[in-house]
Amino acid sequence: MTHSGNSGPTDQPKVDGERLWASLMDMGRVGATPGGGSGRLALTDLDREARDLFVDWCRGAGCAVRIDRMGNIFARRAGAGKARSPAMTGGHLDTQPLGGRFDGVYGVLAGLEVVRTLNDAGIETEAPIDVVVWTDEEGVRFGSGMIASGIFAGIYDLDHGLACADADGKTMGEELERIGYAGSEPVGGYPVDAFIEAHIEQGPVLESEGKPIGVVLGAQGQRCFRVTVEGEEGHAGTLPMKRRRDALLGAARMIDAVNRVAFSHQPHPMITVGAVWVRPNSRNTISGRTEFAIDARHPDDDLLATVDDDMRRACGEIAREAGLGVDFEQTSDRQTVTFEKSCITAIREAAEALSLPHRDIYSGAGHDACNISACTPTGMIFVPCEKGISHNEKENARPEDLAAGCDVLLRVLLGRAGARE
Ligand code: HGY
Ligand code: MN
Ligand code: MN
Repeated sequence: MTHSGNSGPTDQPKVDGERLWASLMDMGRVGATPGGGSGRLALTDLDREARDLFVDWCRGAGCAVRIDRMGNIFARRAGAGKARSPAMTGGHLDTQPLGGRFDGVYGVLAGLEVVRTLNDAGIETEAPIDVVVWTDEEGVRFGSGMIASGIFAGIYDLDHGLACADADGKTMGEELERIGYAGSEPVGGYPVDAFIEAHIEQGPVLESEGKPIGVVLGAQGQRCFRVTVEGEEGHAGTLPMKRRRDALLGAARMIDAVNRVAFSHQPHPMITVGAVWVRPNSRNTISGRTEFAIDARHPDDDLLATVDDDMRRACGEIAREAGLGVDFEQTSDRQTVTFEKSCITAIREAAEALSLPHRDIYSGAGHDACNISACTPTGMIFVPCEKGISHNEKENARPEDLAAGCDVLLRVLLGRAGARE
């Protein structure tokens, strides 16, 4: 008898929370940072080390492993019904420079824990289950995140992705070759039954309400920009103040101005400038060119467009007053996302069946699931993280919450993949 209802079989096994925690801690040792976090930029040697560890674990759990041309890793637990589309889960192993041990990694290792639990219980599923590692979710090194899952979903094209370069001019294609993850499989283009991603909330709501499960309804929109301010290099000791065309000073005023745009539209927009590149970056030379990155987000696409217009206008005015050039290049545009109703319902029903307190929630962060929702039914399960802290070495989560989220994931995947008695 097989179950193919949405909320899984009644007597599912429980995941092994200690084994899940141990694998998170073992993975956290790859690229461990002094402050207790993780620093594994995409396609570096540390990313390769993390990937290799994951692939070893998956092979040890009996999975067949495939790599596609963007380096996405698919660890497949075979299903009995060969022709069935896979039920998919996963996340990312790349991190922020001073990131945490759970952002993205939890989704990958919760998927592995589901496989290990099914193996222990001797449960066979009709459909295969794929655990996926998406390449470069964070976008720290190559400039625009979530690009590999976007190519899988048909949002971006492969050549564009492979050509993305880091600050040293090394492209993703070259770096995939160098670390041995330039796979031969096409990127996407085949049916997937559903994609369910488990992730820490990266916000304070679940913890403040004492709820272990967040049923994610969708995610806010995001527009990223790279702003280039052009002035003129000059001597710090000889060029009179009035004659300067100081690109760094202009950029500083623009950064303050876009921050004010966010406050003028509250309560929703979030605008962040987290990276600045100064040329020549010398303490006694007036900068002739300064660039900075803007990350702007809003739960309403039309209002995000208004915020975009206001930021461009503010920067243009500052440039004109100071005799500077300014170029406002948009580097990404992600619409707001609403996840698939059947996935949301399955996650909610699984939490109820497991008597886990839960609440509907909206994601402030972007995720690969946002891209994958463009090509297959997609849902997300959130679990609390300590004080909502993330993209920070102090990022932390409770083992019991991580296990609870993994039990929900197991139930939803069993519901999608169908378990044979
Ligand atoms: O930026 C984000 O929202 C994600 O953490 N990469
Ligand atoms: Mn993430
Ligand atoms: Mn992140």
